[in-house]
Parts: sequence; C-alpha cells; structure tokens
Amino acid sequence: MSTLKGLILAGGTGSRLRPITHTSAKQLVPIANRPILFYALDSLVDAGVREVGIIVGDTRAEVMAAIGDGSAFGLKVTYIPQDKPLGLAHCVKIARDFLGDDPFVMYLGDNLIKDGIVEFADAFRDRESGTVAEILLARVADPHRFGVAVLDDEGRVVDLVEKPTVPPSDLALVGVYFFDKTIHEAVDAIEPSARGELEITDAIAHLITSGKKVGSRETLGYWKDLGQPEALLEGNRLMLENVASTIKGSVDSESIIEGKVSIQEGATIVNSKLRGPLVVGKNAKVIDSFIGPFTAIGDDCSVVSTEVSNSILLEGSSIEAIDRVEGSIVGKNAQIRRRLTLPKSTRVVVGDNSTVEIY
Ligand code: G1P
Repeated sequence: MSTLKGLILAGGTGSRLRPITHTSAKQLVPIANRPILFYALDSLVDAGVREVGIIVGDTRAEVMAAIGDGSAFGLKVTYIPQDKPLGLAHCVKIARDFLGDDPFVMYLGDNLIKDGIVEFADAFRDRESGTVAEILLARVADPHRFGVAVLDDEGRVVDLVEKPTVPPSDLALVGVYFFDKTIHEAVDAIEPSARGELEITDAIAHLITSGKKVGSRETLGYWKDLGQPEALLEGNRLMLENVASTIKGSVDSESIIEGKVSIQEGATIVNSKLRGPLVVGKNAKVIDSFIGPFTAIGDDCSVVSTEVSNSILLEGSSIEAIDRVEGSIVGKNAQIRRRLTLPKSTRVVVGDNSTVEIY
C-alpha cells in the first residue's frame, strides 16, 4: 500500500487571537511552551507520516523559519503557498502535485488532539474496502461554530453541514481528515460556497452523494482556538497535563518542586515553590515566587516576587512584585512590574487590542 502523506494547513491571519497574533502566526502561538503547530507535526510523525506538505499564507516566512526542512521533526517538508484563503478544499487542490495519488491525512494547524492520531491513522490504513475517507469528530457544546456530521448506525457519515444555525448533532469535525485519491475528483466537482470558499465539507458531501463510503471516528481531548484568551489557556492546560517531569536547569536548595514540572536548560529557580503541571523555558528565571498549576513560562522570561498560576508567559516577558497573576497571557517581551516611585498610579504602554484588568 502507498504510504500516508500529511497535509498541514498553516495559513490564515489569526485575527481572533489578537493581540498575540499581531506578532505571531496563529499556528505558532505556544501552548505548554511549544507552538500549536509542533504538536500537529509530532502527531503526524507518531502516526507514521514522513512526508508533509504545509500550506502557508501571509505568515509563511515565520512558519518556514520555525519548521525549516522538517528534519528536526523527522519529516520531509514541502511548502505550498496559498495566495488567498480560498478554502480547505482549495488547499487540497493546490497540493495536488505534492499529494500525487497517495492517501493522506489533512490536519488543520490550529487544532490540538491531546492524545494524537495514531489509532485513527492505523484504522484508516485498515479501512474497509470501498471507504474513501474517514473524518475525526468530537462532541462539542457549540456545534454551530464547526462543520457538523450526521451518522448512520454504523458510524458512516450520511450528511455534513458547515457551521449550521441549527446543528443536526453535536458531532463537530475536528480538522483531521483522512482521504484517498478519490477526494481530488470531489474537489474538482464542487463550486465555491456563499462565503466564496471551496469547502472541504462540500467535497466530502459530494463523495457521499456519489455513493462513496465515508467513515468517522470520535476523539476525546480535542481543543480548538476559539479566539478567546480563556480558550488559549484551556489548550495550555490540556497539553500541560501531558508534560514530563524534567529538571535541566538549576534549582536551589530553598526551592520546592511539586507535581509534574519541566525546567529547561539554563533556567534558574531561586527560593521559589513550583507546583505543576507547569513548564519553565530555557534561560528563564524564577526568584522568590510561587508558580502554580497550568502555567507555561517561556524562554528568557523572568518572574520575581510574584505568584503566577494558570497563565502563559511568552518568551522574554517579565513580571515583578505583582501579588498574584492568574488566568493571564503575557506577550513577547512584555513587562509587568510594581511601580515603587511616586506618584501612586498605574502606568501602561499597552498594545492594540490588549486587555488589562487591575484588581
Ligand atoms: C474549519 C472547517 C470546519 C471544522 C473546523 C475545525 O473551520 O471548515 O468544518 O469544524 O475547521 O477546526 P474554520 O475553523 O476554518 O472556520
């Protein structure tokens, strides 16, 4: 059997995640200190994929700089530029040369599947004859934000609707799709939707109406950016649950480490208590502080005389002498510190679309 290729979608502008995405592609926003996209690459490698096409848009330079030729992940990467976001089925169309006639898994680069896709890739490799596609589904509370599937008793997909006002089920398409070469005929047969995009849901619906079998599998531990900081923190919590305890940096004898804590090379922990799950990035400093569960402190950050929990600090940011920081996202090189000189006032230089809540 021909090998499974990967097609990762990493275009789009990430407007819903501003201000963080003013300076970063949405797929490169870190969760548990790693860009969201890296988890997708890991998932593909674990599932036996070795050749990946990555669709890139306006943020291509940044995505290409982060992933390079893919060898750091054990992958051979081909970049496929998309000039305009014309839809997921359009991505399949422009990847035609890369894909050839091989079966492939298409993975949306802003989605997380906590436990990966190994079992789903294996199931697709062993698919019943006649099955041309399998889609991953998750039960969600807000199906109107997704593509939604209707299944028959055997788990076959009988209908698909993109972002329905009245969802026919709570089974959302999670952005991981397995296809054989039959999808190319379907992609060529469909017309752009009302929003002007070639929709992959329409292409899959076309497979079904032309009598082809489309299977489905349900996954747990699914996360997607909903554009709200709270959603990003939720993704961070989800992936921190998988963090492996490791101490590569230095921890002084006054400090206490509890639970799953990952401290990277060159990090320094002084007179502090760290209660995992949490990660501390390379060359970060934590001094006289308490770091609570579900916190990701990026590379080169500094936390001094502060309690931080359930938060994401992007690289180079610092917090000093703030009593307690919770549920926060601090952008690259941002600084939050207590002001000790008079007049007693709050002084901020805040970027576009930022939120500051002072207690
Ligand atoms: C896309 C798909 C949708 C799917 C979702 C999952 O929507 O069109 O069917 O449920 O990804 O992430 P988008 O996020 O591009 O609006």
